[in-house]
Amino acid sequence: MPQSNPKVIAIVSQKGGSGKTTLALHLATTAVQKAMTACVIDTDPQATAAAWGDWRGDFLPAVVTSPPARLARTIENAAREGVDLVVIDTPPHAEAAMREAVKAADIVLIPTRPRAFDLHALEGIADLVQFTGTPAHVVLNGVPARATKMVEEAKAAVADLGLDTCPVTFGERADFHRSSSKGEVASEIDANGKAAKEVKALWKWMKKALA
Ligand SMILES: Nc1ncnc2c1ncn2[C@@H]1O[C@H](COP(=O)(O)OP(=O)(O)OP(=O)(O)O)[C@@H](O)[C@H]1O
Ligand SMILES: [Mg+2]
Repeated sequence: MPQSNPKVIAIVSQKGGSGKTTLALHLATTAVQKAMTACVIDTDPQATAAAWGDWRGDFLPAVVTSPPARLARTIENAAREGVDLVVIDTPPHAEAAMREAVKAADIVLIPTRPRAFDLHALEGIADLVQFTGTPAHVVLNGVPARATKMVEEAKAAVADLGLDTCPVTFGERADFHRSSSKGEVASEIDANGKAAKEVKALWKWMKKALA
């Protein structure tokens, strides 16, 4: 396999349970389903993404664990193996891991529940990406049904911090929840379900954003 120059997506957020691992695994698996070579680098000591990889059957993105301090080296190794896309999953409440991931990334995705406290926790990451100049987008996750006003307010709060909101949002969906505990992705639970459609839409947007 010839050396590649992989695109690198960092998934960060200081809040626990905001959907970092869910987003990382869905993006990497979609890439593999599209015949790309993708790899998830799990920098979370809890290794949730790596455990998901252990449960999984086919269309397996490689999931490797790496301490944040070795991230650059791990990405170099992935490039040597010809990987097209690297998705970095990070732990919550971990400044150093977040900084290393942002430093390595072409684009940063920040999954966030659309609630005031969660949005408030975006300040640190907003400062960081403004400092590094890395393109960064908040991805609203776990959006309740018919919550148009909530989404509008969240987008305004994100804009106040100088960040962009991804036009694709993820609803609160059982398919996301069920898939993560089974080593699957939403489209494998229900290929025509709303969760699968949201992932598809996010992938389409992501490809443009990375081009
Ligand atoms: N849109 C969603 N709808 C329903 N459940 C979701 C959604 N997104 C994530 N979840 C569920 O919420 C839980 C937390 O998600 P996830 O593990 O992706 O968050 P995380 O940010 O990686 O958490 P941590 O900070 O602990 O690493 C998981 O059980 C996951 O299945
Ligand atoms: Mg996680």
